[in-house]
Amino acid sequence: MDFSRRAMLGAMGGLAVGGSIAAMSGNVIAAPAAPEMTGGKDGLFDQQYGLFGWKAHKIDDVAGAMDVAYKGYWYKGLGCGYGAFYAIVNDMAKKYGAPYNTFPYSIMEMFKGGFGDWGTICGALAGAGAAFSLFYGRNESKPMVNELFRWYEKTAFPIYNPGEAAQGFKGDLPTSVSNSVLCHISVSRWSYETKIAANSKQRSERCGRITADVVKKAIEILNAKIDAGKDWKGALGKQESVTQCGACHSKGKMADNVKGNMDCTPCHSGSDHVQNKFVNHP
Ligand code: HEC
Ligand code: HEC
Repeated sequence: MDFSRRAMLGAMGGLAVGGSIAAMSGNVIAAPAAPEMTGGKDGLFDQQYGLFGWKAHKIDDVAGAMDVAYKGYWYKGLGCGYGAFYAIVNDMAKKYGAPYNTFPYSIMEMFKGGFGDWGTICGALAGAGAAFSLFYGRNESKPMVNELFRWYEKTAFPIYNPGEAAQGFKGDLPTSVSNSVLCHISVSRWSYETKIAANSKQRSERCGRITADVVKKAIEILNAKIDAGKDWKGALGKQESVTQCGACHSKGKMADNVKGNMDCTPCHSGSDHVQNKFVNHP
């Protein structure tokens, strides 16, 4: 991986490689050539620049990136995952060109509506998380995702307001806290609490604004990570329920049958919302 990063720096800057420490710290150096392919035996798992081989650069213009995220959400209807990913990676593409500008960004459309409209993971989170994964393998990207997702579960959305530039609905929108990273719960809880239809322009507008909100947080995390390096840790701990239920339901415990870090409460608290709706229901 060291080597691939060096090759990439060379390819990007057209400059020669000096010591590996200098190359790792991002100092510019020469050497060039086609991006290195790294992979396993027999040419399997070859990948240009190597695994997680793109270099992350700090993003200074947070307001600009939020604006792009919001516009990206609306651009040809490509949606939240596209808007979030594009806003982050395009900032680097604008400054550094390749490889950032070679990414087929539109692949991120699939995250729209919680992946192909299935209401699973919030696409804005998925887009931002995918951007983290361009640069860092799981040991380093997971703490970043943890921080982003925990913040999302507890935040009242939407925050961002594009003002006159609004493309779906102008003006303030009511907010709600989802306690969940799932598109379905995030959207339905908001719709239920605000009485605004899930399939309305206002709801689309809400998700466009959330795309900008998620990008803002993701950039904060990415910038802090770049500053702190390998040992960066987030500030937010596990949600209370995950710790509490995990005392018995996590790895190696008496009932080791649960994976994941989602807040358990929306689904397992026995609230009105998760009672049986197949009987005695309008
Ligand atoms: C003190 C240990 C302990 C804690 C804490 C705990 N559980 Fe359990 N839980 C168990 C055991 C033991 C079972 C039975 C496992 C089996 O049948 O294989 C179980 C079963 C379950 C089941 C399936 C059966 C059922 O009764 O529905 C669910 C769902 C569940 N727990 C959810 C939770 C959630 C959510 C929390 C946190 C609010 C939690 N548990 C906290 C020990 C615990
Ligand atoms: C998005 C909703 C959701 C969240 C969040 C969630 N669960 Fe579940 N969980 C489910 C559903 C649905 C099932 C399957 C229930 C069934 O079998 O009918 C399930 C199954 C389980 C089971 C297996 C036993 C059973 O009843 O089927 C356990 C244990 C469990 N969950 C614990 C947890 C714990 C602990 C957390 C938090 C770390 C958690 N769950 C988070 C929805 C959720």
